[in-house]
Amino acid sequence: DKAGHRHFMAKEIAEQPSVLRGALEFYSGPGDEAPCLPEGVDFAAAGRVVLVACGTAYYAAQVAKYWFEQIAGIAVECDIASEFRYRNPVLGPRDVAIFISQSGETADTLAALRHVQGRVGQVLSVVNVPTSTIARESDVALPIHAGPEIGVASTKAFTAQLLVLALLALRAGRDTGRLDADTLAAHLRDLAALPGFMAQALDRGEALRDIAAELGEARDVLFLGRGPMYPLALEGALKLKEISYIHAEGHASGELKHGPIALIDQHVPVVVMAPRDALFDKTMSNVAEVMARQGQVILLSDRAGLAEAGPGIAHGLAMPAVPDLLAPIVYAVPAQLLAYHAAVYRGTDVDQPRNLAKSVTVE
Ligand code: M6R
Repeated sequence: DKAGHRHFMAKEIAEQPSVLRGALEFYSGPGDEAPCLPEGVDFAAAGRVVLVACGTAYYAAQVAKYWFEQIAGIAVECDIASEFRYRNPVLGPRDVAIFISQSGETADTLAALRHVQGRVGQVLSVVNVPTSTIARESDVALPIHAGPEIGVASTKAFTAQLLVLALLALRAGRDTGRLDADTLAAHLRDLAALPGFMAQALDRGEALRDIAAELGEARDVLFLGRGPMYPLALEGALKLKEISYIHAEGHASGELKHGPIALIDQHVPVVVMAPRDALFDKTMSNVAEVMARQGQVILLSDRAGLAEAGPGIAHGLAMPAVPDLLAPIVYAVPAQLLAYHAAVYRGTDVDQPRNLAKSVTVE
């Protein structure tokens, strides 16, 4: 049932405020003290966090790497399941391994999980299907409560994975003693505001329809971001290519001049994901480099960021101003909507793109 939407993907994008509200309720404890996570989750003795996943779930893992390092001060190893399992990763009894999978059946992720069993201290999974093999074979499974995701392009599962990973990072910060009670309470208050920010992002995202039509005419599109917005750039590019079949690449903004800038001319739209955070000015210097080569910059930022960017950008989308912790979750919305509207514009099969399966159960 598409609930009045033209595609499951549109329905699933629109559901995100309520999905995240539900997941927040599920993991909220009696007070503000700490996220209420299942028994057995414990980072007090964690030497390292090892994050493993595929596709969009891997980009959620890449965002979480920043959180575990910054919030909990724990070293993080983050890899694609199909690489991780074949490279004899160095593992230890104090490692906490976390496997992220919407379906809980992805063959490479499952094989990676089996590879670490008995070699690490704890095996956690972040899954949408609580009865899945990955959920069953992990020590503790944390459901993301996204509800069935039918569209092949993962949308609400991504943001719900990010929410659960943020809660895990906060818990890790508390367990390691790095996060003081006040800061933890402030982060939890920020997370409580997430569903409202997602709703605002959805409202403002409607303005992306015309911009997406321009993307729909492009042969190549670049996505740029820094810090936790770098994995969002990768996610934006993956979403666009998988459903619209437009060639898209995500890059860390700072890597631009190490190669990708050679691609830029007046025909290449460059989507820049840049909340007004500590890295904003650095990203803007990359934007200037793109504009100097006639690249068409589509800047996703808040009002202060757009004002600072000034004239010269082809399009700006005013996002709500959000706390740093929430930015990668809220900015997923315009990434999804750009891909969705570009695919609709091109008339592709949005929910069932060619060559792809919802659950990849072969290696
Ligand atoms: O079920 P999983 O989360 O393990 O699936 C992982 C990837 O196959 C999946 O995220 C894929 O990249 C999506 N089609 C992306 O939209």
